[in-house]
Amino acid sequence: MAVKVELANDEDYLPILCCVFDAYGGKHEYINSLFPRNMTEEGRKVAEQRCLYLSQVSPNVKWYKATDTSTGKIVGGTMWNIYTDKKPTATPLDGPPGTWETPFDKGYAQALYEASRLLERSFFDTHDLPLAALSVMAVAPNYQYRGAGTALMNEGMKAVDALGAGCVILATDAGRWLYEKSGFRVRRHVTLELPEEYADRPKSRVFLMERERRT
Ligand SMILES: CC(C)(COP(=O)(O)OP(=O)(O)OC[C@H]1O[C@@H](n2cnc3c(N)ncnc32)[C@H](O)[C@@H]1OP(=O)(O)O)[C@@H](O)C(=O)NCCC(=O)NCCS
Repeated sequence: MAVKVELANDEDYLPILCCVFDAYGGKHEYINSLFPRNMTEEGRKVAEQRCLYLSQVSPNVKWYKATDTSTGKIVGGTMWNIYTDKKPTATPLDGPPGTWETPFDKGYAQALYEASRLLERSFFDTHDLPLAALSVMAVAPNYQYRGAGTALMNEGMKAVDALGAGCVILATDAGRWLYEKSGFRVRRHVTLELPEEYADRPKSRVFLMERERRT
């Protein structure tokens, strides 16, 4: 498959998010908690609104889309956070009213999000600016194993290396291989630590992967 990777526009968020949610197939605890009802049209629209808002208020966010050049269809995407002037500060996860069905669900999503950000901060605290974190990487199931993930990664790494940024990723099993090819190394295999009230929820495990800056 011939793939083109370029920066995404506002109208690309929904098709990219559809690729992301289809890639996880409604089976990923972290994605399901942060983006409730993500296998429904309504849940995807809410997610799109949140991503649009985030990209408007945060200059650090950069989305890329991967397009199948023979059809023009978006088959995957990535979201990077890139910090050049200032390290990120702790900002709680939020969404418009109705995003989460109960305060408990929202609290759980916020706890998962905060546990992830804490891991990223373990890298940011020990490294100088510029810094980068890959937050989203997905290719729609019908297009996987055909090079789109590698193409997305290569484009992101070009931007990261042009800046000379140190980089961190919280990776899934599927993503780990891709990131190792780009020079990331697993530092720790971590179970996200959550408050006691969420003890009966499934454990979320990630590879904390890092890549030192290349100047
Ligand atoms: C991870 C993901 C983006 C890879 O996309 P892709 O388009 O299939 O990637 P590529 O075709 O470029 O393959 C990249 C390499 O990873 C390997 N690979 C891809 N998926 C793999 C998997 N599930 N398990 C093991 N290896 C895998 C490929 O064999 C290839 O290696 P090679 O170049 O040495 O042959 C895709 O599997 C996906 O969306 N997964 C679900 C979401 C997810 O887990 N994202 C990562 C979040 S951290």
